Amino acid sequence: MQCLNGKPFLLGCPLHSRPASRVSHSRARISVRAAVAAPPLNTRTSEKIFTEAQDLLPGGVNSPVRAFKSVGGQPIVFDRVEGPYAYDVDGNKYIDYIGSWGPAIVGHAHEEVKAALHAQIEKGTSFGAPCEMENTLAKMVIARVPSVEMVRFVNSGTEACLSVLRLMRAYTGREKLLKFSGCYHGHADSFLVQAGSGVATLGLPDSPGVQKSSAAATLTAQYNNLDSVREVFEANRGEIAGVILEPVVGNSGYIAPTQEFLQGLRDITREEGALLCFDEVMTGFRIAHGCAQQYFGITPDLTTMGKVIGGGLPVGAYGGRRDIMEMVAPAGPMYQAGTLSGNPLAMVAGIKTLEILDRPGAYEGMTEKTKRLTDGLLQAGRDAGHEVYGGCISAMFGFFFHPGPVTNFEEAAMNDKAKFGRWHRGMLERGIYLAPSSFEAGFTSMAHSDEDIDKTIAAAREVMKEI
Ligand SMILES: Cc1ncc(COP(=O)(O)O)c(C=O)c1O
Repeated sequence: MQCLNGKPFLLGCPLHSRPASRVSHSRARISVRAAVAAPPLNTRTSEKIFTEAQDLLPGGVNSPVRAFKSVGGQPIVFDRVEGPYAYDVDGNKYIDYIGSWGPAIVGHAHEEVKAALHAQIEKGTSFGAPCEMENTLAKMVIARVPSVEMVRFVNSGTEACLSVLRLMRAYTGREKLLKFSGCYHGHADSFLVQAGSGVATLGLPDSPGVQKSSAAATLTAQYNNLDSVREVFEANRGEIAGVILEPVVGNSGYIAPTQEFLQGLRDITREEGALLCFDEVMTGFRIAHGCAQQYFGITPDLTTMGKVIGGGLPVGAYGGRRDIMEMVAPAGPMYQAGTLSGNPLAMVAGIKTLEILDRPGAYEGMTEKTKRLTDGLLQAGRDAGHEVYGGCISAMFGFFFHPGPVTNFEEAAMNDKAKFGRWHRGMLERGIYLAPSSFEAGFTSMAHSDEDIDKTIAAAREVMKEI
């Protein structure tokens, strides 16, 4: 574990998977509240429920970042979600820019998605046998995503990524994987690898329990730095099965790739006989109809998907070139299976969500609103005298308290995390629900209105002056 500004911090994976900080909730809470003169927010019921949860669930949650450890204060316990809004158990309403960490791109609890789910529930919730909806969603994915000729549905992004890694190894007969510091690909052993400083270091496990041998086969390079990639390939010629990356990073905060970087990865992997996998669990169907690969015009060999593709139900997927996908059992010898994979409820939610995203103007509308939001947040920061750096593509955005530029994790790690904590709390107390970490991107949806964006910018102008 590394220490940044005196706080325990893990390189190479986001807070979803980081061990809890040792700062107690009550101490963190006091420091954040003292720094921000915010209107009172009654969260008594949330606090009661979360206090009980801490006795029942490790850290009170089922996924670490939800615990608000890096921003201080207790998390908000939700009662219901609808459109762009979340309502907590104390009756507070928030404009939500997390969207269940990505899936809610058409808005929470969309009427048409709910209707499709109700109709399917009447017919049963799990078959464990083929159903036609698997074909329908597969055809939709294949028609939209340039690299995908065949697809396998699984139940989470983690499962998609660990399966695609096995597939890359099976297809190439090579063992090693190259990933980028700050990119998250789920919590399988091979991906929980510390990036270390500099480039091209051999991996050491990020978390206790990760087998040294799995971590050792994971090499790391620096995002947006092709020289670091070439160095790793030179030192491991003929041994690297594949390269995996977030084509737009959301797990070090929002970081855009350069076109040259993505093109360079495509060229180098071809020259070296390695496979290129875009992990589009976050960017898939969020950046464009055909995911980030369509937006940037770079076609990888393989793609992992999740979040949006399940329309709010647990789904992941991996797909790619037919000759590679035909290695997957039972078509081929690479074993991978799942009791609930292709589950009919998850399939209908995904189908309906992709149908809604096909409507004219869906991405144009989200792009326009997200740009206005991001410009408004950055302007509010600058007007209040802060150094801020950020950007957006389509319905994904983010900024750092950092003078910029931020092109990789190592630069992102220098952001002012204490200030981010005060910003987060100030916005929360004004009814704006942002990701509780400076290392997470923000998400908008088709449901966010111009009025929601205006309210958010107005709140930002107040908070920026106070922090
Ligand atoms: C890019 C990326 N890959 C993989 C995952 C893992 O997905 P899941 O949380 O569904 O296991 C995530 C989760 O945030 C992600 O952002």
